[in-house]
Amino acid sequence: MIEQPITAVYPGSFDPFHLGHLDIVRRAITIFPRVVVGVLQNTDKTPLLPTEQRVDLIRSTLEDMPGVEVTAFSGLLVDFLRESRARVILRGMRAVSDFEYEFQIALMNRRLWNPAETVFLTPTEEFTYLSGRVVREIWRLGGDVSGLVPEPVRRALEELRRQAR
Ligand code: PNS
Repeated sequence: MIEQPITAVYPGSFDPFHLGHLDIVRRAITIFPRVVVGVLQNTDKTPLLPTEQRVDLIRSTLEDMPGVEVTAFSGLLVDFLRESRARVILRGMRAVSDFEYEFQIALMNRRLWNPAETVFLTPTEEFTYLSGRVVREIWRLGGDVSGLVPEPVRRALEELRRQAR
């Protein structure tokens, strides 16, 4: 049985968590009383930031938002949904180009676990061009990521750059 009130899980790689992600969480918490940010523990690719650090940075960013939790997960998203006593998957939809992939995984998740429903939220226009890939590329090429990521993430990326020198 699904517990009320409705919990939404916001899954992602969040490598790194950027202002578009923050915007989605801010919108989500006005709709859902409990939002669980699920940070994917990628096993098949080397992330810029390790999972535990991504979780810590997102926690620091969202610490003043009651109702929001941050947890790492591995394996199937629908299993994490059940563990979180949730049935809603939250995803940001920035542009038409996101649609095909999002539509495919929304249907696959429902096939894997029928109660799963995917809810799409659109970020504010100024963040529609933001993605983890773009932020990683700017960082790798020595660009300034302030104004693209929350302050704790900016500091962590700056530190990472210092270590890489
Ligand atoms: O931020 P991303 O990389 O677009 O997030 C992708 C994510 C985490 C939502 C997706 O990779 C995922 O759900 N992974 C868990 C594995 C899974 O459940 N796969 C089956 C659904 S296709």
